[in-house]
This record gives sequence, C-alpha cells and structure tokens, in this order.
Amino acid sequence: MDVSTAIKERRSCRGFLPTPVADETIEQILEAAIWAPSPMNAQPWEFIVITSQELKEKIYSEAEDRKKSLFEKSGWKWLGRYQVDFILSAPVIIAVVGNPEKTGADRFLEGGGMAYQHACAAAIQNMLLTAHALGLGSLWFTLFDFSRMREILGIDPVKVPLALVCIGNAVGQPLQTGRKDALELTKHIR
Ligand SMILES: Cc1cc2nc3c(=O)[nH]c(=O)nc-3n(C[C@H](O)[C@H](O)[C@H](O)COP(=O)(O)O)c2cc1C
Repeated sequence: MDVSTAIKERRSCRGFLPTPVADETIEQILEAAIWAPSPMNAQPWEFIVITSQELKEKIYSEAEDRKKSLFEKSGWKWLGRYQVDFILSAPVIIAVVGNPEKTGADRFLEGGGMAYQHACAAAIQNMLLTAHALGLGSLWFTLFDFSRMREILGIDPVKVPLALVCIGNAVGQPLQTGRKDALELTKHIR
C-alpha cells in the first residue's frame, strides 16, 4: 500500500476482534515507529507491549475514572455515549513512553522542552499507518492520567506515558470522519 493511500484510508478503530496479533506484526509496527524523525536524533521513545488482561482491566478502570472526571469538568454530553470497552478487547496495546531528558535544542528556547513529544507523535503516526497497511485497526488513546498510568505500567517517574496505541483486527466499520479543505487552512507568503 502506498503512503498516500494509508494516510487517507486510516480511521480510528474502537472495536476489536479478540484474534491475537502475531509478534512479527508487532515488531513491524515498532520498527516503523523508530524510524520517525526526532530532535538531534535523540529517539526519545520507549514502548511497552501490553497483552496482559489484568493490565488491560487496570487501564480500562483508569479510563473510566478519567471519563467521569472529564464529564464533570466539561459537561460534554457525548461522553455519556463514549464507551472505552475497546481497551479490554484490543488484543495488543502499545504504550508509547517519552523521555523529556531526550528533548532537543528546544530545551534552551522559550516554551521549549516539548520536542520529544512531537517526535513521539511522529512515531505514533508511523505505527497507525503501518497497522493500517497491514490490514489492522488502531487507535491513538490518551484518556488517562500520566501519574496513574506510570503506576499501572511501572514507568520511571522522569518518563511520560504519552499515549496508548490499541491495535487489532477491526470489528464493524470505523466512524467515517471528514477534514476541512487544506486550502482553506493555508496561506501563502511569497
Ligand atoms: C493526540 C491524540 C489523542 C487522541 N486521544 C483519543 C482518545 O483518548 N480516545 C479516542 O477514542 N480517540 C482519541 N484520538 C483519536 C481521535 O479522536 C481521532 O483521530 C479523530 O477523531 C479523527 O478521526 P480519525 O482518526 O478516524 O480520522 C486521539 C487522537 C490524537 C491525535
């Protein structure tokens, strides 16, 4: 599959079949992640591959808690319909852990110290596109508290669990999202 097709066809998946994902497939997805660009090639990422049902249950419970507190703060009605059961059914969840000590020269700039997050985001997009090209569904999931996720996954306090990438064979059709026209969002300075 060419890159452009993968970019345009990929949609967030929130329903997974229990069919396990082969280790080689997970390795291919991680291999795609590490070829992302990063500041000064610092490669500020680490990955935790989660297949333990016990851990998925802890993550699910944390997501449910976050959902409740977000509802209280925001009043967003859609949260009442938003189910996070896909955490329990996703055969594999990969935690992408960023290392702020491996950010780049931006640490010396105003508002700096965040380039490591950008690099991890690029790695995550590589993972989603590769999963799609391999015929799998995936979801970039962030509805959790960093400190709580550190505890659940036993992560070093200096590092940040930036996202959980849920991966597996999709069940049902993903929600078809649209995009604004790129030209409407672009100005040229010539
Ligand atoms: C930084 C980031 C965080 C996200 N967090 C969540 C999340 O916690 N739960 C979720 O269901 N989707 C999450 N998503 C997926 C978005 O909802 C989704 O990408 C967006 O609605 C567009 O849909 P599409 O990916 O199907 O095109 C996240 C996406 C990004 C980039």
